[in-house]
Amino acid sequence: MRLLESFRGAAIQLPNRIAMAPMTRGRADDKTGVPHPLTAEYYAQRAGAGLIVSEGVWVSRTGKSGPGIPGLVTGRQIEAWRAVTKAVHEKGGRIYAQLWHAGRVSHPEVVGRTPVAPSAVRQAGRIFVSEGLMDAVEPRALSELEIGEVVQDFAAAAHAAVEAGFDGVELHGANGYLIQEFLAQNTNRREDRYGGSLAARLRFPLEVVAAVVEEIGAERVALRISPGNPENDIVEDDWKEVYPRLLTELRRYGLAYLHVIDTPGHEALSHLRPLWPGTLIANLRSDEPTSQDEGESLIESGLADVVAFGRLFIANPDLPARFALRAPLARADHEVYYGARLDGFTDFPAMEAESAKFACSARS
Ligand SMILES: Cc1cc2nc3c(=O)[nH]c(=O)nc-3n(C[C@H](O)[C@H](O)[C@H](O)COP(=O)(O)O)c2cc1C
Repeated sequence: MRLLESFRGAAIQLPNRIAMAPMTRGRADDKTGVPHPLTAEYYAQRAGAGLIVSEGVWVSRTGKSGPGIPGLVTGRQIEAWRAVTKAVHEKGGRIYAQLWHAGRVSHPEVVGRTPVAPSAVRQAGRIFVSEGLMDAVEPRALSELEIGEVVQDFAAAAHAAVEAGFDGVELHGANGYLIQEFLAQNTNRREDRYGGSLAARLRFPLEVVAAVVEEIGAERVALRISPGNPENDIVEDDWKEVYPRLLTELRRYGLAYLHVIDTPGHEALSHLRPLWPGTLIANLRSDEPTSQDEGESLIESGLADVVAFGRLFIANPDLPARFALRAPLARADHEVYYGARLDGFTDFPAMEAESAKFACSARS
């Protein structure tokens, strides 16, 4: 089983090739952005992953996407994350923080002001707020000065991540949030240094990478991308031009890894893998969770070094152990994915506990 083999990259060494994909769970204190105390246990239960990528964590309050999403800015947030990284490390795991600015995929109900974006282009669709779903509002276009401030917010959050004991950071450049909004033509209508030509659309993402690399070193910095992903109303028909160019620019840094979200047809990976000599983590987006067999074939074909699994990790905290035995997998009800509720978070048992339970009930 290739997924269970160890992996030795230039910057990261992992005991297996199974990563836990970043997943927002919405359990943080909505007012303070401090992760819930159970978060340490939640991630520690999943420390058998070769690498854990944390849920998206906001780099500034304006970059918060929805209710219950944690931040990595204040002293209390850093302290709470320190307990999380300590718990994961004590279980022998590794954890990167996913740094997130949601851009226009937010709402005044969430951030207390108009969300910001490259351009004032409203997202078609609705935004999740505490009261449920609300129509998206037209965001405010960032000034050049403010763009510089957001770049610094990413660098400061990366610094805070290291202070909190994370092994590195993954910049959230996927799924239609601020970084991808700069890359995509339908969300970036700017005509200044940050928009117009492809080189200009790449400027903000590259400035973020450069600032974060400068702050904590390239070997602790990763980037997640989702070429062509229409999520959050992104139109990226030109992804075959955009991403090869982005990768060409990124190659000089020696980043920890590149994380690519693709479809099960592997079109983006087939296109980009030959352009990326560094470590590549792949993840597939479809209605069904990325499966063990899909993961095996991604490694086997050489399209990825490591595969990230999202939804399967929610209900299977010991996913690598289950993969090793091809044991049955539990399924989480969609209802528990997000929210302030505490069921469906740390209460999915590991296999041993489950077998022990069965053994007990068989005896009684
Ligand atoms: C509940 C949930 C929350 C998610 N939150 C994030 C997130 O914070 N950041 C991110 O980059 N992707 C997020 N995703 C996307 C996952 O990382 C992953 O790409 C997706 O679930 C597909 O992988 P899977 O088939 O293995 O679940 C989320 C997905 C789910 C189901």
